[in-house]
Amino acid sequence: MKKKERLDKVLSNMGYGSRKGIKQIIREGRVLVNGKIVTNNSIKIDPHKDEVVLDNIKVHYREHIYLMLNKPKGVVSSTDDPTNRTVLDLIDKEYLIFKPFPVGRLDKDTEGLLLLTNDGKLAHELLSPKKEVDKTYYVEVDGFIEEHHKNLFLDGISLDDGYRTLPSHLKILRSGAFSKVELTIREGKFHQVKRMFKVIGMEVKYLKRISMGSLRLDESLGLGQYRELTEREIELLKEKS
Ligand code: URA
Repeated sequence: MKKKERLDKVLSNMGYGSRKGIKQIIREGRVLVNGKIVTNNSIKIDPHKDEVVLDNIKVHYREHIYLMLNKPKGVVSSTDDPTNRTVLDLIDKEYLIFKPFPVGRLDKDTEGLLLLTNDGKLAHELLSPKKEVDKTYYVEVDGFIEEHHKNLFLDGISLDDGYRTLPSHLKILRSGAFSKVELTIREGKFHQVKRMFKVIGMEVKYLKRISMGSLRLDESLGLGQYRELTEREIELLKEKS
């Protein structure tokens, strides 16, 4: 059971201002808790239960945010980087106040599904190697992918560093000199998909993540666009992780 929290801290964490600014707002009598004006800024509340109104507008409390980003090429999946634009540069201030971070990494030149959240517990569960969460990628490769390759991926591929990958599933969408496939892996080693294809002598030309666990990229999101997850998407992600 979560403890009560200081009112000024709750409001400032939600982006209503600095702790100092919020204290002033409270002193000015602009905040009501359960219908009563409070002027004591050290008051503690249960943010899930108590009703807070600021300047006559109800404060809708939430602790966590969950954003689905369709990551474009050219941005890095970290929270700050001295030289590159990061995925956080694509996110509006109204969400940045919650301090979201990317759940796992996609390479700079990889596109597609990236979950951003400030829910450390869920992020940990999704990234934990023990959980073996499925990640599916749409891949275009310079090479002739044929039916027999499916077994190679299923058996596990020994990477350049000797690591043998867990069974992965290959779905062939187009077989030709330039092939298109979907590959589902259950782990997330550095550059894993590119390295797996390299071992079989093929170069990945385009890579896009289309799902992670129960979460599927919303194809209506253009590159660089994002949206909040629906309640159902959050529920499913938590259930299965
Ligand atoms: N595998 C890769 O090689 N790159 C990614 O960005 C993700 C998976």
